[in-house]
Amino acid sequence: MAETGTDIYKAKDILSDGGLVGIPTETVYGLAANAFDDDAVLKIFKAKNRPAFDPLITHIGNLAQLDALTKQIPQIAYQLMEIFWPGPLTLVLKKSDKISDLISSGLPTAAFRIPKHPLTRSLLKLLDFPIVAPSANPFGYVSPTNARHVNQQLGDKIDYILDGGTCKIGLESTIITFDQEKPVILRLGGLSIEHIEAAIGPVTIRPQSTSNPQAPGMLISHYSPQKPITAGDINELIKSHQNTKIGVLSFQEKYDDYLNFVLSSAGNVEEAAKHFFAGLRWLDDQDIDIIITEYVPNIGLGRAINDRLNRATAH
Ligand code: TXA
Ligand code: MG
Repeated sequence: MAETGTDIYKAKDILSDGGLVGIPTETVYGLAANAFDDDAVLKIFKAKNRPAFDPLITHIGNLAQLDALTKQIPQIAYQLMEIFWPGPLTLVLKKSDKISDLISSGLPTAAFRIPKHPLTRSLLKLLDFPIVAPSANPFGYVSPTNARHVNQQLGDKIDYILDGGTCKIGLESTIITFDQEKPVILRLGGLSIEHIEAAIGPVTIRPQSTSNPQAPGMLISHYSPQKPITAGDINELIKSHQNTKIGVLSFQEKYDDYLNFVLSSAGNVEEAAKHFFAGLRWLDDQDIDIIITEYVPNIGLGRAINDRLNRATAH
């Protein structure tokens, strides 16, 4: 188990010495290392068992840091940063030589964001280097939304966990790239399309693919619990799974005859997003044979939840 606490000076020392620290963000917990230390960055890939073709997001504390790390930022990207940073938005930009090929998986671009969690913002202020931080889970598994989740799966591989409580949003950041200066959404996430479009007008969503060289990490099968999981009409699925130990992850309704995790009894997609990964984890740890779940309304963060459900149920 890794030591857990709120000591940002300790976190700073560990990161400066090339160690790994679990950090809270408003989206999910990250596994952080010094972005300017290739040996430290390599430790992340090892700890997560992450393939080298899946590039990392670089987290910075303020906009001024971006100049040295990037080239030719499109005007629309500046607009997005001004409106949504700090926050659950990641931008893919042309990288400078300061970002190693290890971080970008050899791509000429790299992903950046300024996270909003106060503890991590205080930490970033102390550092004179940016940090790379993928979600703090073994590759392919569900993302962690509290410090305990991080410790359960990666506790023996990391040096310290900054405990910032439960993540407010609960889903990873929305990722936007630029195609001829036009924004294209690569990953649906914690910032809704509605919010983005209200600010900058219509955006394109790139259809998901298993072998999209632009987004190597966005594999069709991802965010999976260990237990089998199926999504659809819950009552129908229950009928077709008689004689099996069922766990139900439902949006709003209660299923009292089964082990059941309700995402939002008020039927609110933001609340459902916040509880989604914790609910999946909880059911995954129960004595059941299968997780039965349903899609949520396809609005706001509901779209990002449904995207995760598609990936969790894809095999
Ligand atoms: O909310 C989040 O984004 C969290 C917190 C910790 O910040 N981080 C996170 O990182 O979700 P990760 O590594 O689980 O997902 C990052 C994704 C990768 O799957 C990768 O495909 C994409 O970002 N990415 C990174 N660099 C890219 C690039 N140059 N082009 C396209 N996609 C990129
Ligand atoms: Mg991840």
